[in-house]
Amino acid sequence: MDQAAADRDPVLILGGGLMGLAIAHQLARCGTAVVVLSRRRSEAAGFVAAGMLAPHAEGLQGSLLELGQQSLQRIPAWVAQIEADGGSSCGLRPCGIVVPFATIAERDRYPTAAWGQPLDRTALEREAPGIGPGWQAGLLFEQDGQIDNRRRLMRALERACVALGVAFQEGSEVLELRQNGRGALAGVRLRTAEGDENQLPARRAVLTGGAWSARLLPQLPVFPVKGQMLSLQGPRQALQRVIFGPGTYLVPREDGLLVVGATSEPEAGFAEGLTPFGQRQLQAGIAALLPQASQWPPMERWWGFRPCTPDQAPLLGPSPIEGLWLATGHHRNGVLLAAITAELLACSVAPEGRPSRGDRAGGEVQSDEQALPAGLRASLLQAFHWERFTAPAQPPG
Ligand code: GLY
Repeated sequence: MDQAAADRDPVLILGGGLMGLAIAHQLARCGTAVVVLSRRRSEAAGFVAAGMLAPHAEGLQGSLLELGQQSLQRIPAWVAQIEADGGSSCGLRPCGIVVPFATIAERDRYPTAAWGQPLDRTALEREAPGIGPGWQAGLLFEQDGQIDNRRRLMRALERACVALGVAFQEGSEVLELRQNGRGALAGVRLRTAEGDENQLPARRAVLTGGAWSARLLPQLPVFPVKGQMLSLQGPRQALQRVIFGPGTYLVPREDGLLVVGATSEPEAGFAEGLTPFGQRQLQAGIAALLPQASQWPPMERWWGFRPCTPDQAPLLGPSPIEGLWLATGHHRNGVLLAAITAELLACSVAPEGRPSRGDRAGGEVQSDEQALPAGLRASLLQAFHWERFTAPAQPPG
């Protein structure tokens, strides 16, 4: 098969979570045919997360902070494009995030303190009315925010993908990556929901399997970190800003729903379900951050698995197999990083593609000025290359 024919073959997206949908959407916008294979989309971390857009509140550092800041900057245009293509709202809320501290010294030591507004106790009470008495200082990151991933973004992305012709095969579990004699990707073997095993030929695919990614490619250092969550029915407008405490955060949606996260349980592996210990931990966090919310009725409780790597940063770009790309391992920052991940991966997988202009209902929202400069793209792909975990350790000194 010649290169031009290979370029017309559909790209397989192996995993229908947030990364899979975001990349499928971006590729479809470039005119590339895409098929999304997904075992069970409802278990995706994109449906579990609280949707914080928080590179500063999370205290990210180094290349991960830069990746997060670049993505944050792109989110309004990315969201507008999804909304134009799919016709439904993503629930973006640039509400700012408050990080409380027990002391001023702790506040000033926070890795991203330079990007935030320092708050004393009085200012903290103004920004987060009702905050618990144990917090004497805070940082306000007005540039951070949230998106209603669970109820809106995931559905809006599905609709945008469908509108652009993306094909879905829900209930298809990819069992194996098939390689040709040269070791390049030749296709996948999969099992359908009906129990049939099929082969699907493909020369290009993106592994977006989240916490399950290493099941297909065991050399990837991706493992699950379980998180338990709950939501409370709060009064509308009780809280405007997200409160991001140590171990617990409170994310107020527009309609008063307060999303509370999250436990961090690497030892749980893929053990499903809520635990009394995890739920008590969340209750203790609520009582410390916003005592009045302890009285608000619980609306929902759920859990999921963050895809983590040893340095807690994602794997983006080429894989050990030619023709297979990686977009996994986003750990705590998947929702934040979806926009930049989609852009980086679409450029890598389909460099021949360019966003088509003016031929979609709703028109084009993203402009060339927003495209990631080639140098920055290359340096980010280098920083998050999977091979960083295979390089021999440098001698100390
Ligand atoms: N982004 C927060 C968390 O993963 O709990």
